[in-house]
Amino acid sequence: MEVLIFDTPATIGCYVADLIQAVLGRRPEPVLGLATGSSPGPTYTELIRRHRDDGLSFAHARAFSLDEYLGLPADHEQSYRQTLRRELIDHVDLPLDRLVTPVVDALEVPERAEQYDAAIAAAGGVDLQLLGIGSDGHIGFNEPVSSLGSRTRIKTLTDETRHDNARFFGGDAEAVPRHVITQGIGTILEARRLVLIATGAGKADAVAAAVEGPLTSMVPASALQLHPSTTVLVDPAAASALSRRDYYETVQRHKPSWQR
Ligand code: F6R
Repeated sequence: MEVLIFDTPATIGCYVADLIQAVLGRRPEPVLGLATGSSPGPTYTELIRRHRDDGLSFAHARAFSLDEYLGLPADHEQSYRQTLRRELIDHVDLPLDRLVTPVVDALEVPERAEQYDAAIAAAGGVDLQLLGIGSDGHIGFNEPVSSLGSRTRIKTLTDETRHDNARFFGGDAEAVPRHVITQGIGTILEARRLVLIATGAGKADAVAAAVEGPLTSMVPASALQLHPSTTVLVDPAAASALSRRDYYETVQRHKPSWQR
């Protein structure tokens, strides 16, 4: 894995925006894999700025989300579809019908999950998949002991994850849905490039286990070790439990494009 240590989350956001901009410029119909949660926030802020100020266009792109809560009304502000609209899609020129999120009618979930993987394949596969990491080592919502070959399916969130995500639900972990639909680890590994963002001390142990630990379903993010093109971007706090700092690159000079 390529591990890059940046001074701030904002600098990570600029770097990842560069990677996404390169994909948008390189492919006629680029396919982006989007994540929700706090980690991609600075990247989305920077992409919106580039769209507004520099004309960066998403008009020919397609975007697939990693996961979605089950049991929330489709228009619930914490559903991941609404979150992605609010934090990125409604501020750029990606047509709304090109944002694909898992359909969450619970009765139909197994069938819908299969269709989700088929839709990604039909779009030509994901060019660049954004990822965060849970404090328990999850990617997407593949919690510990998920199959490393899993496909999109229903999962049950751990108490740790529901507690971590309570901040989006007024601090009430009980209000966080128990069930989700998530791309499987096998699905995620099919993306051509993986970009994992982790910031803050709460992620330090999970990052160290994923990057330096053994490949194990106990740390789903360790499956990224199998992928030929994974970049892990961390701030100093999230890097603090890595034991081999000499293996990793500290990026000090990456400047937002408007400062270069
Ligand atoms: C979100 C997702 C999760 C988050 C992870 C980290 O779509 O799939 O894996 O990336 O829980 O969340 P934050 O970034 O909020 O710390």
